[in-house]
Amino acid sequence: MAKIFVSGVAGFLGSHLADSFIADGHQVVGCDNLFGGYLDNVPPKVEFHQYDCNFLNSMIKITKDVDVVYHCAAAAYEGLSVFSPFFISQNVFQNTVSLMTASIVNKVKRFVFCSSMARYGSQAVPFKEDMTPKPQDPYGIAKYAAELVIKNLAEVHGIDFVIAVPHNIIGPRQKYDDPYRNVASIMINMMLQNKPPIIYGDGGQKRCFSFVQDCVAPLKEMAFSKQVVNETINIGPDEEFITINELFGVLAEMLDFKQKPVYLADRPQEVKLATCSAEKARQLVGYRTSFKLKDGLQTIIDYIRERGPKPFKYHIDLEIINKKTPRSWSEKMF
Ligand SMILES: NC(=O)c1ccc[n+]([C@@H]2O[C@H](COP(=O)([O-])OP(=O)(O)OC[C@H]3O[C@@H](n4cnc5c(N)ncnc54)[C@H](O)[C@@H]3O)[C@@H](O)[C@H]2O)c1
Repeated sequence: MAKIFVSGVAGFLGSHLADSFIADGHQVVGCDNLFGGYLDNVPPKVEFHQYDCNFLNSMIKITKDVDVVYHCAAAAYEGLSVFSPFFISQNVFQNTVSLMTASIVNKVKRFVFCSSMARYGSQAVPFKEDMTPKPQDPYGIAKYAAELVIKNLAEVHGIDFVIAVPHNIIGPRQKYDDPYRNVASIMINMMLQNKPPIIYGDGGQKRCFSFVQDCVAPLKEMAFSKQVVNETINIGPDEEFITINELFGVLAEMLDFKQKPVYLADRPQEVKLATCSAEKARQLVGYRTSFKLKDGLQTIIDYIRERGPKPFKYHIDLEIINKKTPRSWSEKMF
């Protein structure tokens, strides 16, 4: 059995991955600085360290004897990244350089990096892995820069890597009291409190959601499979497209919610159409979708109902406040 390290283990993807590796009999060590995520997401059998990945010495200490690192820790805030670029670069780019360095020092065999669809920017869809990345905001730029450093250091020091590119993965354990992202969870949290959800722009932005229940197995496949070494692989569906307005409609019907959403101005740099090709994931890591939209949304509704809807916490400071800053953030409208 292997020793797997998961950064961001109190977060959404990290905690699901950790659970699944433990169920397979692996040993899991993880860290999270808890600015996001929830402590009770951390599976009980994980050796947990409340450490920040930016601290290289701590990372060197806790990645000793590790076989595979999954780097899920990030300030995963694309829309916010043009208003809090310093915080987001530090917790996307710099923290990756730190954990990659520690992994090399400790002779880890493989580094699996969670990048983001934001690396593609607003190129023609569906996004394919062989497209040249053209990120258009600090979050996407930081993810792509992190990828470049991983490739560079891997080449020099000889460590296998995989770049996973998740696309709009949603499901239970996603932070739902966070005003800056996770549209489905935010809408459900608001509707369960009988408050109208906020939609940016005209709500015509098209998305394709994938449910975590379908994504964990292909992500785990990246730990040991030989054919994924040094590959970049999208993880996300290319079926069941939905606009944000339609998402609101489906949720309103499921929750018997009668109010109308509140429309605010577009968020700067928001990509209107973001869908990927999952062909490579199907071929290399056996990606299959089994969760239909409504079934997946129901699992999130059940999760939020069980824990109870919560007020939103503005836990990240806006570094730039001007007329482009969404009012929902500067005026704390959630
Ligand atoms: N969920 C998605 O749809 C999606 C899409 C694209 C990319 N990703 C990427 O996948 C990864 C996991 O995403 P998620 O949805 O689980 O996010 P998440 O916010 O639920 O989890 C990230 C966790 O990382 C922790 N963290 C952040 N910076 C840290 C640091 N410097 N040191 C230690 N811990 C830190 C946070 O506290 C949080 O618990 C991220 O890298 C994200 O960018 C996710």
